[in-house]
Amino acid sequence: MEFGNARFLSKPFTLLTFCLVLLILLSSPSSTEAYDSLDPNGNITIKWDIMSWTPDGYVAVVTMYNFQQYRHIQAPGWQLGWTWAKKEVIWSMVGAQATEQGDCSKFKGGIPHCCKRDPTIVDLLPGTPYNMQIANCCKAGVISSFNQDPANAASSFQVSVGLAGTTNKTVKVPKNFTLKAPGPGYTCGPAKVGKPTKFVTQDGRRTTQALMTWNVTCTYSQFLAQKTPTCCVSLSSFYNDTIVNCPTCSCGCQNNKTNPGSCVEGDSPYLQSTLNGPGKNSYAPLVQCTSHMCPVRVHWHVKLNYKNYWRVKITITNFNYRMNYTQWNLVVQHPNFDNVTTVFSFNYKALTPYGSAINDTAMLWGVKFYNDLLMAAGPLGNAQSELLFQKDSNTFTFDKGWAFPRRVYFNGDNCVMPPPDAYPWLPNTAHASIRPLILPIMVLWIVLAFIML
Ligand SMILES: *[C@@H]1O[C@H](CO)[C@@H](O)[C@H](O)[C@H]1NC(C)=O
Ligand SMILES: *[C@@H]1O[C@H](CO)[C@@H](O)[C@H](O)[C@H]1NC(C)=O
Ligand SMILES: *[C@@H]1O[C@H](CO)[C@@H](O)[C@H](O)[C@H]1NC(C)=O
Ligand SMILES: *[C@@H]1O[C@H](CO)[C@@H](O)[C@H](O)[C@H]1NC(C)=O
Ligand SMILES: *[C@@H]1O[C@H](CO)[C@@H](O)[C@H](O)[C@H]1NC(C)=O
Ligand SMILES: *[C@@H]1O[C@H](CO)[C@@H](O)[C@H](O)[C@H]1NC(C)=O
Ligand SMILES: *[C@@H]1O[C@H](CO)[C@@H](O)[C@H](O)[C@H]1NC(C)=O
Ligand SMILES: *[C@@H]1O[C@H](CO)[C@@H](O)[C@H](O)[C@H]1NC(C)=O
Ligand SMILES: *[C@@H]1O[C@H](CO)[C@@H](O)[C@H](O)[C@H]1NC(C)=O
Repeated sequence: MEFGNARFLSKPFTLLTFCLVLLILLSSPSSTEAYDSLDPNGNITIKWDIMSWTPDGYVAVVTMYNFQQYRHIQAPGWQLGWTWAKKEVIWSMVGAQATEQGDCSKFKGGIPHCCKRDPTIVDLLPGTPYNMQIANCCKAGVISSFNQDPANAASSFQVSVGLAGTTNKTVKVPKNFTLKAPGPGYTCGPAKVGKPTKFVTQDGRRTTQALMTWNVTCTYSQFLAQKTPTCCVSLSSFYNDTIVNCPTCSCGCQNNKTNPGSCVEGDSPYLQSTLNGPGKNSYAPLVQCTSHMCPVRVHWHVKLNYKNYWRVKITITNFNYRMNYTQWNLVVQHPNFDNVTTVFSFNYKALTPYGSAINDTAMLWGVKFYNDLLMAAGPLGNAQSELLFQKDSNTFTFDKGWAFPRRVYFNGDNCVMPPPDAYPWLPNTAHASIRPLILPIMVLWIVLAFIML
């Protein structure tokens, strides 16, 4: 919109401006999100610590640390896989299990827990008998994000490996690690043997160490996950009656002909039978019929304007009948987060992906036992908060949609935003301030500079 003034310039200038804009757009961070620009170092590190040797192998404790700021692994939990380098078998496991035993027919007497060359491991469920547990296990594969609950940002199990080496020279590290959460999205690097981990006893008076340690780093890419969006954003303000809804078909389209039953009406008498019908235990969303068809909508309402402050109300609505979102979180980017004064009824943490230079991004999540559970679709399926921002007179404006968020993520997934030209307008934008002129003037200068060269 700012470039409307370009028509006052002559044609070559317009062309140059166009090229410049194109250049700027092309050089901006990759839009494929091959990695996460808001959490550039985020990763899940899987560490294997060999704790003891056995006659034909070793016992290791495997721990997955979620070093991601806001992406957690929610139900139905992680699935970890790898390929053995030799002919190893798993004699037994504590705190997790292999999903398939595989062909153990050549064993007489003791039968291994798993004989597959490429085992897939899943966590045990809460309530597992104590003699089958170890610390940090048995949470149904759920791992919190590092910011939200660092105490629960790790998951461990113990594995007893046979037909393996029995010294740190003969043990071969497993290959081709895969992490599903539970769908695709993570890519794991090779295992790297490093310094043995040191363990300090609880009283802090003795240190022991692993016999051998290696670790694997897995990173997430939304591009790889190739998920259809799961969330969208709607906007409104006190200064304009228009409510800008989520873009139509943000997460899918209602199509009764080709895809009947893709959604259910909230007041449908068949809702209960649909919920208990086929797919009852699946994690595929069963959404309420809406124009956007998203399981989750985030609404941003610019609520009040004080002299030195302004106030926003955020409402998260769950349209998915099949999912209670536990430990949900929201990441929101808005320039005024550098001066947020109060966040009511949500937890808040500033994310500073590029050091302390820019902190325009906030992570918000529910208060434990109050609203950290976003209930399934229905009258209780929402969570709300209000934010109070202090105005900075140099940047603050209600003009040009400035008061609306730039980016919103729900549970680490990018939410579909309405197009900027649909944002609620400030009445009388014709009396615009002088600020909108600055950009075209800057462009003009740059263009002139180019011509001088
Ligand atoms: C993984 O995250 C940890 C913690 O932030 C960091 O120390 C480590 O360097 C990261 N690893 C990679 C390969 O990025
Ligand atoms: C293996 O153990 C020897 C001592 O027993 C140690 O010097 C060496 O660094 C270890 N190697 C690895 C890869 O841990
Ligand atoms: C690991 O995966 C790659 C590519 O998927 C494959 O070419 C290779 O054979 C696998 N290695 C093992 C040991 O399975
Ligand atoms: C993983 O191992 C590498 C190589 O030894 C080491 O540099 C890195 O610090 C380790 N990372 C973690 C999180 O233990
Ligand atoms: C699809 O069917 C529902 C009722 O089952 C109806 O409310 C909705 O309007 C229909 N949508 C279209 C696009 O026909
Ligand atoms: C969500 O939680 C409520 C209360 O804990 C429970 O009654 C309901 O069955 C749960 N719904 C789903 C889909 O898990
Ligand atoms: C912005 O970041 C700095 C340092 O990273 C932090 O001290 C400050 O509290 C942040 N500001 C807000 C409003 O969160
Ligand atoms: C927040 O706003 C106050 C008042 O305008 C200002 O003094 C302060 O420097 C601002 N803080 C940040 C981090 O921008
Ligand atoms: C409110 O915003 C819409 C754009 O979303 C615009 O069409 C409308 O004219 C605005 N209303 C007023 C009173 O400015």
